[in-house]
Amino acid sequence: MALSTELTTLTIAPPDDWHLHLRDGEALEYVVAATALNFRRAIVMPNLKPPVTTTEQAMAYRERILAAVQKACDSGQYSAADCAQMQQFQPLMVLYLTGATPADEIDRAMASGVVHAVKLYPAGATTNSDAGVSDLLGQCSAVLERMQALGMPLLVHGEVTDAHVDVFDREAAFIESVMKPLRAGFPKLRVVFEHITTRQAAEYVTEQATRDEHGRLLLAATITPQHLLYNRNAIFKGGLQPHWYCLPILKREEHRLALLKAATSGLPQFFLGTDSAPHARHLKEASCGCAGCYSAPYALGLYAEAFESAGALQSVEKFEAFTSRNGPAFYGLPVNAGKFTLQRTPETVPETLPFVTDSGIVPLRAGETLPWSVTARA
Ligand code: NCD
Ligand code: ZN
Repeated sequence: MALSTELTTLTIAPPDDWHLHLRDGEALEYVVAATALNFRRAIVMPNLKPPVTTTEQAMAYRERILAAVQKACDSGQYSAADCAQMQQFQPLMVLYLTGATPADEIDRAMASGVVHAVKLYPAGATTNSDAGVSDLLGQCSAVLERMQALGMPLLVHGEVTDAHVDVFDREAAFIESVMKPLRAGFPKLRVVFEHITTRQAAEYVTEQATRDEHGRLLLAATITPQHLLYNRNAIFKGGLQPHWYCLPILKREEHRLALLKAATSGLPQFFLGTDSAPHARHLKEASCGCAGCYSAPYALGLYAEAFESAGALQSVEKFEAFTSRNGPAFYGLPVNAGKFTLQRTPETVPETLPFVTDSGIVPLRAGETLPWSVTARA
């Protein structure tokens, strides 16, 4: 008789989200608690309107995020234990790179202690990227030089924006036309290839495991839950499914499998980044729907499900490396103290969650029951 060895509990160091959209104002107040509860730190994307381009703006945005966490706690909606978790949340700020960013902005960012990276949005690549860069090496060489010298990571939205390149090929094309020339020109620049979606990106990052003189990896990548769990069929299943539309867009199954292999490899280059990107329901279910999946509240369960689908949960060390260890190592930060517990305790994702407008917000996997959920945070 076979012994039952079904895994029911996962205990990991508290995780961080290395790619997150928190928005601002009222929207921020609706979404910040889910992240503060489930992650100790998050790399907060700067694609606000207007974008966060200076250290001063990043510091002010950080204060608004912390104030929104406190407001959530003061609302009485959360238990004392949950508030104690939420109050430990640290937003890690990012500057939005433009063609006009001066090199000494990098000095100010470094000195602030609160800015941890600079983000490259190719102009027109995604939501609120109009202020992005059109000619990286032509416009930004002095800034990249300073980032390389100071060890400030460049976070890259890796898609070309050339209308002649098929939308499903934009990431693979970016590796050849931007990533390789960038890294050849700035060989010590530390780069995160954000939300990778293709076999080509997974293989490229796997192969490029070189480190700087301080022993720090020069290249890493974040991976979202949707790109680990779904291929592009999800966008078209039974009709057009706007809640599966994000950028970079979901790809073919061969790419999903390559991402799953990378995430579950235990390799230090790969770590968690939800790219949770909230948009009100009516702005997604529209004739021109916004790009972005809202995954933050259920992200940990989604990642556990993805790892399990690859037969990779038995080694909790590899799951923990992805959720809680590789990211801090790349950013030169300590692993979070404490323990999070996930259990095979099913959790049903609500059809909608409250948001700024009455239409609410539809989380990823709305209405479905997830096998894994977070049951304790300490
Ligand atoms: C993000 C957003 O809505 O801000 N959308 C998305 O589809 N991921 C922008 C981004 O990260 O590309
Ligand atoms: Zn993003």
